[in-house]
Formats: sequence, structure tokens, C-alpha cells
Amino acid sequence: ELEGLNAHFQERIDAEEKIEPKDWMPEKYRKNLIRQISQHAHSEVIGMQPEGNWITRAPTLHRKAVLLAKVQDEAGHGLYLYSSAETMGITREELIESLHDGSAKYAQIFNYPTLSWADMGAIGWLVDGAAIVNQVSLQRTSYGPYARSMVRICKEESFHQRQGYHILMTLMEGSTEQKAMAQDAVNRFWWPSLMMFGPHDADSAHSAQSMKWKVKRQTNDELRQKFVDQSVEQAEAIGLTLPDPDLVWNEERGHFDFGEIDWAEFDRVVSGSGHCNRERVAHHRRAHDEGSWVRDAICAYEEKKRSREVA
Ligand code: 3HC
Repeated sequence: ELEGLNAHFQERIDAEEKIEPKDWMPEKYRKNLIRQISQHAHSEVIGMQPEGNWITRAPTLHRKAVLLAKVQDEAGHGLYLYSSAETMGITREELIESLHDGSAKYAQIFNYPTLSWADMGAIGWLVDGAAIVNQVSLQRTSYGPYARSMVRICKEESFHQRQGYHILMTLMEGSTEQKAMAQDAVNRFWWPSLMMFGPHDADSAHSAQSMKWKVKRQTNDELRQKFVDQSVEQAEAIGLTLPDPDLVWNEERGHFDFGEIDWAEFDRVVSGSGHCNRERVAHHRRAHDEGSWVRDAICAYEEKKRSREVA
């Protein structure tokens, strides 16, 4: 019986059918999607902190308004993704609890500090650039609600990347100090941006199954390579140097070769020993607790409205 159900499920996946919340699905498919979608949502929400750090210190009102809009977008992306995860039978409280107790991950990149205004440029250009490469691919994921939330999110992400690139371009047209600030930010964010795509395919715990179930449509290394290839030309166009002496065009492969990623750093940051891991989760916990009166007020209002309708 179960074998038949699994076989039929795989036939649906192979036929490019979208899996919807009420459809039968293997328990492992459900668990894998809850894991990935919840971590994606946590990444968006935690990602608001490093950028939020510079809203009050933006150099112009225009930059402040743009950064505010971007951080607000990230909050919205997080909410779409939490809602997608909830269609699989997990509650918002459970999702938030798993972020607070450390059982759920979020993109390791957000555990790095943002030390200068130029970091807003490096994050927009590189972090959102990497996220876009990953999310454009995820628009074709086999789980319906996740794929549809990706379509909506991708529409907003390109502005995020462009505004970051424009910040760096402006700095690279500026004084020697401003050029140095931009280069320093790229030096600090380049390698962690490559790590956003996850371990090499050979070391990836979930990739094989996620490719079979079309949760992922391209592998970690394929997407990473796409990101490297597009970034090299963009860096050259504004006079930035990417901090990798092994970065060189490989005519045979038709891609850029690049140096080895420091997976010890990746493991350290993912396992909680990054600069800001504790701070990011503590900040989220504090904001969540301080916001409980808002959630209570909404529930009380809804209750009153319901009882008025019934009366
Ligand atoms: N940071 C933290 N943990 C990571 C990671 C990273 N960059 N890359 C991989 N991991 C974790 C995985 O979660 C997994 O651990 P788990 O079993 O406890 O979940 C382990 O490392 C092994 O990695 P795998 O490659 O086997 O895991 P996946 O198959 O899940 O692939 C992924 C990793 C490519 C990140 C995939 O989960 C994914 O595509 N997630 C959704 C996309 C996402 O989260 N993007 C970051 C969004 S950031 C953003 O958009 C904000 C920006 O707009 C500012």
C-alpha cells in the first residue's frame, strides 16, 4: 500500500505536477519541506537585523528610505514563507520556538557584523544576489505554496540587489577612503556569500533526495557557480577586486574557477560560533516577547468581533 503511494507520488513529481497541502506526501517529504521553508523564513527575518543596524545611520534620506523599504520587504518574505511552512501542519509558535531553541537554522551569513555603510552595498549586491540565484531556481520547486511564494519574493528581490550595487558603485566613484570602505566590505562578504549555497554537493546531506523530489531544481554547486560567474563581471565593471587569487576564467569549462571555501569557518558559524549568533537570536527573542501584547490585542479584538457577529 505504502509502496504504491510512494511510487505514485514520484510519478507525479516526475510529471512536473505541483504537490498541494491536501495531497498525500511521504512523511520525509513533509519533514524536508518544513525544515527548508522554515529556515528560509528564519533567514529572511534574522536578515533584517544586520541591515536594520544602519537605517538610522544612512548617509542620505533617500538611502534611508530605500534601506527601510528593503528591510520591510524581508519581513514580508519571512511571513509568506512562515505561511507556506504552516500549510504542512506546523504552527507559527513551533516555528518561532525552533528558531529560539536553535533546532532550526538560518542562513549563516547573517551572523557576520555590519561594520560600515558599505556593508549595506555588499549585502544588497552579494547576499541578495546569491539569494536571487537560489530563489529563481526555487520558483520551480515541487511544493505548490513554496513555489508560489518564491515567484512573489523574486519580484521584489531584484530591487534589493540593484540598490546594493548602486551603493558600491557610488562609493567606488568617491574618495580613496570611500573606495577602501567598499573594497573592505566586499573582502568580508565575498566568501560567506559563496557559503550561502551550502556544502559541496558531495557533502550535502539533503541534496540527492531534494533533487529526486524536485524540491531543489539545481544543486548547491551549480547555483554557486552561476553566482560566481555573474559576480566577476559586475565587480570588474565598478573597479572592485574579488578577494580570491584563484579566480580565473576556464575556457574549457566555460566558467570561472575559484579557490577552496573555508568549510571550517562555515561549520563554526553554522554551529553557533559566528560573531553575532547569540546576539541575533537574543534580539529576535526580545522583539518577540516585547511584541506579545500586540498579538494578545489582535486575538482579543478578533474574539470580540466574533462574539458581536454571533450575538
Ligand atoms: N547557512 C546555514 N545553514 C546551512 C547553509 C547556510 N548557508 N547551507 C546549508 N546549511 C545547512 C542545511 O540547513 C543542512 O542542515 P540541516 O539538515 O540541519 O537543515 C546542512 O547545512 C547541510 O546542507 P544541505 O546542502 O544538505 O542542505 P539543503 O539541501 O537544505 O541546502 C540550502 C541548503 C541551499 C540553503 C537550501 O536549504 C535552500 O535552498 N534554502 C532556501 C534558501 C535560503 O534559505 N536562502 C537564504 C535566504 S537569505 C535571504 O533571502 C535574505 C536576503 O534576501 C537578504
